[in-house]
Parts: sequence; structure tokens; C-alpha cells
Amino acid sequence: MGTKITPYTQSGQESKKEQVARMFDNIAHSYDFLNHFFSLGIDVLWRKKAMRLLKVHLGAKSDPRPLHLMDMATGTADFALEAMRSGIDNLNVTGVDISPGMLSIGRKKVERRGWSKCIKLIEGDSADLPFAANTFDGYTVAFGVRNFEKLEKGLNEMHRTLKPGGMGVILEFSKPTATPIKQIFHFYFHTLMPGVGKLVSKDSDAYSYLPESVEAFPEGDDFVKIMEKCGYKKCHMHRLTGGIASIYTGVK
Ligand SMILES: C[S@@+](CC[C@H](N)C(=O)[O-])C[C@H]1O[C@@H](n2cnc3c(N)ncnc32)[C@H](O)[C@@H]1O
Repeated sequence: MGTKITPYTQSGQESKKEQVARMFDNIAHSYDFLNHFFSLGIDVLWRKKAMRLLKVHLGAKSDPRPLHLMDMATGTADFALEAMRSGIDNLNVTGVDISPGMLSIGRKKVERRGWSKCIKLIEGDSADLPFAANTFDGYTVAFGVRNFEKLEKGLNEMHRTLKPGGMGVILEFSKPTATPIKQIFHFYFHTLMPGVGKLVSKDSDAYSYLPESVEAFPEGDDFVKIMEKCGYKKCHMHRLTGGIASIYTGVK
């Protein structure tokens, strides 16, 4: 699937997974600030919209048992927290991530909001999930799949852990095509973000990796086809904010 984009070019034998975990450990202290600053807070609205799609799907279920969601690549737990705010009753969320640094900030946020009983954050890799098949009613991933070392393995594993009828909701950056948003986005992503990101996060590569990884990542119909290949049914794509990001949904 094209050239493998990794955060650090001078990294010896380190795998993409190891580099990505190290990069997020490095920038964890400034991740939330930079995330909301660069997106002008729009990322919050994108996660809300993604959660609404999942809620509508889950609402159609007649099963009265507690719902269990997985938030893959949970990072500092923003999507897991959004799930709790969404008003779905009787909900448990398991967040999974390979970066201990991001998880540690996530755990503090979960604790501060009093949701430690309902949200559990664990260290784990999307390519090898420590859960039985048919565990989750749904899963979310925000800005995670682009970082997976093994994209299809991750999509297959998340599919395996979904209950039949469960839905996966994937939020990821895409590339706008219309003028002038395409040109503005290009300047913002390729010039402004790497400069400011380097200054604030102190990691000179992390915010150059971001545009490079978005550029190389399959989007739109190409991504939908990969989901279908991994067994997902009823796949849909929703373009957000002129195509800067997209939500993909698929059902087991
Ligand atoms: C850009 S952050 C997104 C965090 C969070 N979902 C959000 O919306 O802010 C990407 C996260 O994906 C995690 N990640 C990357 N590859 C992963 C993998 N193979 N398995 C689990 N987590 C992974 C990183 O450690 C990082 O915390």
C-alpha cells in the first residue's frame, strides 16, 4: 500500500509502531492543547457527529444489557469521554492505545470527570487485541488508523471484536479538493502546523509526520473498499468541513 510513512527517518531498526508510540509519548504533554488549537476546536464537533452516528445505530438495538464500546487509539481519551457525554445509558468504554504517555494523561482526565468506573484505558496494539471475538457493541477510532503499522490487520481485529450487528466508526483526516479550502488547508498543514508544532511540542518530526501521513493515507472510496475487504458491511462515508476530515462507518 505505497511507501510506509514513519515519524522518524533516522531511527535504525525501530518499527513504525515503536516510532509512533515514542512520538506520542514525546508529544503527550502538549497533544491536547495543540490538537484543539490547530483545529480551532472543530475536532470536538467532528467527534460529536461521529458519536451521534454510532448512537443512532445503537438506538435501534432492543437489547437491554449494558453497552460496551471500544475506543481504539484512544490517546488522551477524548473520544471515550465524548461517548460518556453522548447520553447513551448504561455504557462502558474500553480505550486502547500503544502510548503509555498518552494513556497516562487520558487516565487523569477520566478520573477528574469521575468516570473511572465506566472508562478503562489499557495499553494494546490494534493488530493484536486482547479481547474475545464478539465483545463490543461498537467501536470508535479518531485520527488513529492512519498511524497503524498494519492497517488491514487492525481493521480485521476491530471487526473480530465487534458483536454481529455492531458498528465501527472511524474519524480520519482526508484531503479537501475544492478551491480555496484546498490551498488554505495545504498551507496550514504543510507550513504552519510543522512550525508551530515543533516549537510547542519540542519534537521536530511529529508535526511534519502529520501532513506526510495524511498525504499518503487512502481516503474516500479507496478507504471504503479496504473496510469492505476486511469484512465490513453497509459502509458509508461522510465528508466533514469541506473534506478536511471524513467519518467512515461499517457494520459487522
Ligand atoms: C492522533 S492520536 C489520536 C488520539 C485520540 N483518538 C484523539 O482523538 O485525540 C493517535 C493515537 O493512536 C495511537 N496508536 C497508533 N498506532 C496504534 C496502534 N497500532 N494501536 C493502538 N493505538 C495506536 C497513538 O499512540 C496515539 O495515541
